[in-house]
Order: sequence, then C-alpha cells, then structure tokens
Amino acid sequence: MIRAKEKEESMKSKPIILAPSVLACDFNNIEAECQRIEKAGADWLHLDVMDGHFVDNISFGPPIVESIAKIATVPLDTHLMIERPDHFFPRFLPHVSNITVHVEPHYDVGDTLKRIREAGATCGLAISPPTPFEKVEPYLDQIDLLLVMTVNPGFGGQSFMEPMMAKVKRAALLRAQLGLDFHIEVDGGINPSTSAIARESGANVLVAGTSVFRAQDAALEIKELRE
Ligand code: DX5
Ligand code: ZN
Repeated sequence: MIRAKEKEESMKSKPIILAPSVLACDFNNIEAECQRIEKAGADWLHLDVMDGHFVDNISFGPPIVESIAKIATVPLDTHLMIERPDHFFPRFLPHVSNITVHVEPHYDVGDTLKRIREAGATCGLAISPPTPFEKVEPYLDQIDLLLVMTVNPGFGGQSFMEPMMAKVKRAALLRAQLGLDFHIEVDGGINPSTSAIARESGANVLVAGTSVFRAQDAALEIKELRE
C-alpha cells in the first residue's frame, strides 16, 4: 500500500514529459519529421538504438543520432537496446542529453551508469517485461531515470502491457521511501488511454512512437497524452 504522503512525495515536482520515439517517423524525411513533432509539443525526442543482438531488430546508430542532434532543439533521450552498452555509449554521448541502458545484458551496470554521469549526461536504467523488478533495485540511487518497458523491446506498434504498472508503482514507492528523485518513464503502446493508466501509476515520462508520429494531428495527440 502506498501511503498518501509517500504518494504525494513521489509525484511532487515531476512534470509530465512527452518523448515521441523517432523510430516511428518517416525515415525519408527525418529532419522534417523531428521538426514537425517538436513543433507539435514534444519535450524530448526518444531515440531507439537496436543492435540485432539484444533485440531481434536493427534500427540506427551513432551517425543518425549525430545527424538528429544537429537539428533537434529539445533534449535527446537515447534508449540503448544493445548487448554492450558499456562499450558503445561513448559514441552517442557527445550528441545526447540522456543515455538509458538495459539491466539485462552481461556487463558492469553500476560502473557504466557512473561513467555516463561522469561524462556529463544523465543516465537511465531500463527493465524489460520479463525481468523482475529486484534486478534494478540496487541501482535506484545511481540513476536519473528508470525506464519501465511496457512492451518487449525491439519493435514499435505493439500493445501496452498493463501488468508492468506494478513495477511503476513499486518504483514510485521506493523513490519516496528512499528520498530519491529519478524520472519514471514508460515505453511501448502508449496512447491517450494507456498514458492515463501509466500516469496514474506514477510514470511521468511518456514515450510514444506510433500514436504521435502516425496521428492525423500530432499536436492534438500530444495534448491528449498529456491530459
Ligand atoms: C520498443 C521501443 C519503443 C517503441 C515505442 O523497442 O523502445 O520506444 O518505439 O513505439 P510505440 O509507441 O509504437 O509502441
Ligand atoms: Zn524506447
């Protein structure tokens, strides 16, 4: 049970942040697409990097991230779905504000989070649906953002997994109990109705690919996601 005071504490000063995922854009027009979505009200742009090992898909890497950085005017939130984030994060670092690594691959998670922060970016830790929440608990005091995946990572356009809200609630509770301040981000299947569920559970950063980039009216969609 989350006590009222702790719940209030955990929600305090956490603005709702809309982070559309560029993975759902028209890749023939990346520049125009990023500008269109920024103008529609995006707070951050979410960049999904996939290596074909950690997930069964390959998206884009440092050169595309660098190109996006040249035209973006909002912070870039980089989600590394790769087997060796410890090895590759320095190649993204000069171009982005936040780097999120997954807890599942075999590498030194704590050291990598520390190195990301020392290099001047904020650091996030992501947890995939099958992974128990206990895996991220040892790192909660070392992160700026916890990314609770609400689909299995690898593809856009999948359905929101509501049972993951137990992890969001647990994160919000521990954050309040431990006096921590990390963002809680959800990613996958976010639309105006699932966004409401995620926000009610304690998430404040909403990643939405399909619903924003494929909307008839992206500004209206972002407004509805926010409300
Ligand atoms: C999934 C990615 C997500 C995805 C979200 O591996 O991390 O960011 O692109 O896309 P939608 O909003 O379409 O589920
Ligand atoms: Zn993502």
